[in-house]
Amino acid sequence: MGVLNVQNVVKIYPGHSDADEPVKALANVSFTVHENEFCSILGHSGCGKTTLLNIMAGFDDATLGRITLDGRPVGKPGWERAMIFQDYALFPWLTVLGNVSFGLEMKQVPAAEKTRRAMHQIELVGLKGFEHRYPHQLSGGMRQRVAIARALAVDPSVLLMDEPFAALDAQNRSMLQDEMVRIFMEERKTMVLVTHSIEESIKLSDRIVVMTRRPGRVKADIEVTMPRPRSEEAPAFIALKARIRDLIHDEYDLADVPIAPPGSH
Ligand SMILES: Nc1ncnc2c1ncn2[C@@H]1O[C@H](COP(=O)(O)OP(=O)(O)O)[C@@H](O)[C@H]1O
Ligand SMILES: [Mg+2]
Repeated sequence: MGVLNVQNVVKIYPGHSDADEPVKALANVSFTVHENEFCSILGHSGCGKTTLLNIMAGFDDATLGRITLDGRPVGKPGWERAMIFQDYALFPWLTVLGNVSFGLEMKQVPAAEKTRRAMHQIELVGLKGFEHRYPHQLSGGMRQRVAIARALAVDPSVLLMDEPFAALDAQNRSMLQDEMVRIFMEERKTMVLVTHSIEESIKLSDRIVVMTRRPGRVKADIEVTMPRPRSEEAPAFIALKARIRDLIHDEYDLADVPIAPPGSH
């Protein structure tokens, strides 16, 4: 379970006025995330990563093509697809336990079971002892751990993450990436991470989908088989980093070349 199939997805945002040009964000994107696989979607800002994740989550529709989860087309947002955003999106009036229990409460899980499952997730993300704190009493890294625990508590088929570590300072980011590796190894589940960090994608992923510049297409679909945890100093890590950097540079060097001859517009 948790097989996510992206089939020829095109996304065009219509212009909002006559003067506005429509924006083609995604052009024919296809790839598959297999069961219990950690997949990163890697590309520069503006290449359509968030657009793609929003369509997976059901916050937006594809213009053409479709996405299926375990063979069924994804529709509106559902429990089976949990999303983690860059900016935590915790409920400030609820404690850590309240936040993590929220989805279970909505699903009407009985009280004892609800607390047991929420506490398990809180422990998994390393926040045992902090369950009665409020979000404003926590650091950025801790808040993002709460968001991870809350998303996992409802036992989704797939966990979707949009640059979840981007707002953290370098040290916290690196720590949370390591934590994410541990959580993934303990909690094996299909995960999709959007990132613009090559190192982050290599540290975490079984599969890295490298996007072209906008309109986003799949530039490369790379399987990563190095055992975890992965050291950034390992030769295989360094080699893969160079390979991906070339793929991305290649793409963005092209962007500097005028497509139309000068004076033709
Ligand atoms: N709601 C929208 N309406 C119009 N254009 C949008 C909208 N959302 C995103 N875009 C445009 O689509 C492109 C891809 O955006 P996005 O998916 O946010 O990229 P990324 O997450 O990779 O930075 C960008 O050019 C962006 O300006
Ligand atoms: Mg984005």
